[in-house]
Amino acid sequence: MTQLATSLVSGLTPAHLRFLEGLFPGEGLTVAPAEMAVYGADSSRRAGMPWAVVRPRTEEQMVELLRWAQAEGVPIVPRARGTGMSGGAVPAFGGVVVSCLLMDTVLDVDSEDFCAEVEPGVVTAQFQALVQKRKLFYPPDPASLKISTLGGNVATCAGGMRAVKYGVTRDYVLGVRAVLPGGKIVNAGGRTHKNVVGLDLARLFVGSCGTLGIFTKLTLKLLPLPEGSATVLAAFGSLGEALEGAREVFRAGILPTAMEFLDAKACWGIGQIKDVPWPASPDGEGATKAVLVLKVDGSRSALAAELSRVEGALAGSTPLCLLKGLGPAEEEPLWELRRLVSPAVFRLGPDKLGEDVAVPRGRTVEAVEGFQAIGAEQGIHVVCYGHLGDGNIHVNIVYDAADADQRARAKACKEAVFRLTLSLGGTLSGEHGTGITKGPYVPWQLGEEERALMAGIKGVFDPSGILNPGKGW
Ligand code: MLT
Ligand code: ZN
Repeated sequence: MTQLATSLVSGLTPAHLRFLEGLFPGEGLTVAPAEMAVYGADSSRRAGMPWAVVRPRTEEQMVELLRWAQAEGVPIVPRARGTGMSGGAVPAFGGVVVSCLLMDTVLDVDSEDFCAEVEPGVVTAQFQALVQKRKLFYPPDPASLKISTLGGNVATCAGGMRAVKYGVTRDYVLGVRAVLPGGKIVNAGGRTHKNVVGLDLARLFVGSCGTLGIFTKLTLKLLPLPEGSATVLAAFGSLGEALEGAREVFRAGILPTAMEFLDAKACWGIGQIKDVPWPASPDGEGATKAVLVLKVDGSRSALAAELSRVEGALAGSTPLCLLKGLGPAEEEPLWELRRLVSPAVFRLGPDKLGEDVAVPRGRTVEAVEGFQAIGAEQGIHVVCYGHLGDGNIHVNIVYDAADADQRARAKACKEAVFRLTLSLGGTLSGEHGTGITKGPYVPWQLGEEERALMAGIKGVFDPSGILNPGKGW
């Protein structure tokens, strides 16, 4: 975790509050503790108390705020909906939380340039629906897309299920306009789909978790909307068969839009809250030891053939059952089962550590089997599921935080999972970022040289260290 700059103040003075009241009149400023507490938490279940919450509507307000904050040494924590899973939006050391939700205008959608310009507070799913009406496609689909925002997605480089074919948020950011500490405005990138003039500053902002600047405009790349999609859900009697089936799909030359998996514990948990199509016994994990859910997309005429190819590739693994859905109405119930996994995990215990490691794609079998063995060794439920197609595996370590022994074993599990991941050439976070929950482990992955370079870059953008302190390298 980064060192806190010693020049930062430790609270707001009456003069600071007068400044904020002037810049953010009426509901633009909140200092009521109950309301501020909401802005101090995110989906990591970590929380910190802001000193004040402001809601800019304009870039001018953002410029004034960051000019003042740098001069006064006031920490600034930008945030949107707080769907992040690693505490990246939590004001770990207090400061002024800046909600970007009121800057929520779609400024332009251009079907000739295949790009759009948006303010950071636009909700991702609403943006996708809007561009879809123009037969355009914005692929990144983090699980939170119905409530999370494009600004939050860019700040965290959100991933999602379609990443296996279409890549992650990073691959769709053409340009970033951001305000830096001190109030300077930076325009990085632009509307072109190719651009090699200078260093790629736009990409530097992507995934920087609000530590370099605050976005006021994003230019996003769009694709032509595929005509249709289809889904296959298949259950298997062993994890090995499921993982082998997945490999056969790639060997057959199929690039699925999404390739997700659920392990036996995930399947069992989902069966506790919903009728499931796979064979399961009511008193245990049942016959189903793993499920694959795959999506393909393309022209309507090709989809039926594509479905048969997927079915053919999976046949060698003798699925216990295989369901197909053609078009959103038939596909949606199959994907709903995948989306239920997070709440389903709580059927195994009251608390969880939700990790999102990624390994080189050829090492997924070793990784998943190894994570499950770690759970068995520690006597802790370890649930594996997620983005099998790109090697990004969600490892949920389920435990009871009220029990000191379980807490210790859960931590030991997490650290063993990290060690195994790194030994396989993987990364500690494929999509949730390091935030505060994984901050202490960053040196396990990044060397001194790399961290020093990153700290140097941070210092160029934010010399006083006011932006989102405590999140970094
Ligand atoms: C997901 O893939 O469902 C999300 O990344 C959230 C998670 O389950 O960790
Ligand atoms: Zn995920």
